[in-house]
Amino acid sequence: MLHGTGGTEHDLLGLADALDPQATVLSPRGRVTEIGMNRWFRRLAEGVFDLDDVELRSDELADFVTAARAHYELGGLNLVAVGFSNGANVALATALRHPSTVPHVIAFSGMHPLPGRVADTDLNATSVLLLNGESDPMAPLASVDALAAELEARGAAVQQVRRTGGHGVTEADVYAAQGWLAR
Ligand code: MLT
Repeated sequence: MLHGTGGTEHDLLGLADALDPQATVLSPRGRVTEIGMNRWFRRLAEGVFDLDDVELRSDELADFVTAARAHYELGGLNLVAVGFSNGANVALATALRHPSTVPHVIAFSGMHPLPGRVADTDLNATSVLLLNGESDPMAPLASVDALAAELEARGAAVQQVRRTGGHGVTEADVYAAQGWLAR
């Protein structure tokens, strides 16, 4: 579970429970701060990411997942990264760069985290659910569409859910994510 800007590791625990009450939950805290707000990577302005930092922090997150799996003896459990906003963006970046560590992503109000930095990882075993509002200035649909096209071109199974409104997680989004997860 990967919180949004200004959040903490506690924010999405209720969402985790709604998605799968039986799941084992890892919920870390973003290591970057921006005027006191926790984030997962640096940005230069809203929607303009420090791409080197996105890569560095997503590599760190993949290392965390690997270490946590060993530490908590999670064995062969499937891992689904669930993120909101900045947390969705780091989940997507990590899935793009480390698909065997993060093979599945549910991204609430996420966008393309690494525009122009295409890695050549094979995403044939990757599945991604992108849930977005149609009028979300923080996650423009052009960026979401570019991401979906890139994921699909590299073999990922992508499902997109669009709703009216902007940035956030609605009840309908949660229902859609429950259904996707169950499938
Ligand atoms: C980001 O910085 O990842 C996005 O703009 C969303 C956010 O404001 O956290």
